Amino acid sequence: MNSSTPASASARRGLFVVLEGGEGAGKTTQLRLLEAWLRQQGRDVLATREPGGTEIGERIRPLVLEHGQGEVDPRTEALLMAASRAAHVEQKIKPALAAGSVVLCDRYVDSSLAYQGAGRGLGVEAVEQINQWATDSLAPDLTVVLDVDPELSRARRAARDGGSAGDRIESAEADFHTRLREAFLQRAERFPTRYVVLDASDEVDAIQQQIRQRVAELLSADPYTVREDA
Ligand code: TYD
Repeated sequence: MNSSTPASASARRGLFVVLEGGEGAGKTTQLRLLEAWLRQQGRDVLATREPGGTEIGERIRPLVLEHGQGEVDPRTEALLMAASRAAHVEQKIKPALAAGSVVLCDRYVDSSLAYQGAGRGLGVEAVEQINQWATDSLAPDLTVVLDVDPELSRARRAARDGGSAGDRIESAEADFHTRLREAFLQRAERFPTRYVVLDASDEVDAIQQQIRQRVAELLSADPYTVREDA
């Protein structure tokens, strides 16, 4: 590596890609397909998720997602998500990026901005501040927003859960899901070079091709140019 490389760039040689979207947007399917494609090319990949991704994060996960864990008020929820994320960044994401891996993460900061900030009404700015601190300002190189119509989201979740209530957060009211959608789209509008918004109602393969195209562009770009834009 060039010795004049800035420290911040040399600490992040890999590529950090996040998939975001409302419930039933198909993030997990897309992430698995992308992971398989990258591995076929011999890339090192860390495929991970939030909340979770570390031992402590996987222990936080049921506290915020499962019914019957006691009442979780919005601030507690936001802090638990941020705590899980802090551990994830420090223990898994930063080391993987430093080793040159492609990190594929199912949800990241934008989920907190959407769910806790916009959905639960804490305000996007307040949630952004705690997350900036929790992540040590680590931002993804690319965020793929799978934009889902709240009605499609509801239908997909109902089909998946066989009519059950879903987890604690999923069972929030319809208006909540509309606020989430708006929040994801606003983030993408604010940072157009670092986001791609895709219609979640398209065919799985068509969505995957568009994601691969963006990822391939980033992987073939000068890595330090990518970092400066992040
Ligand atoms: P999960 O079962 O992973 O659902 P999905 O397939 O929709 O991602 O559950 C994650 C839930 O946690 C989902 O309802 C979104 C919510 N969540 C937040 O509210 N804030 C966050 O910061 C994150 C990462 C997730």
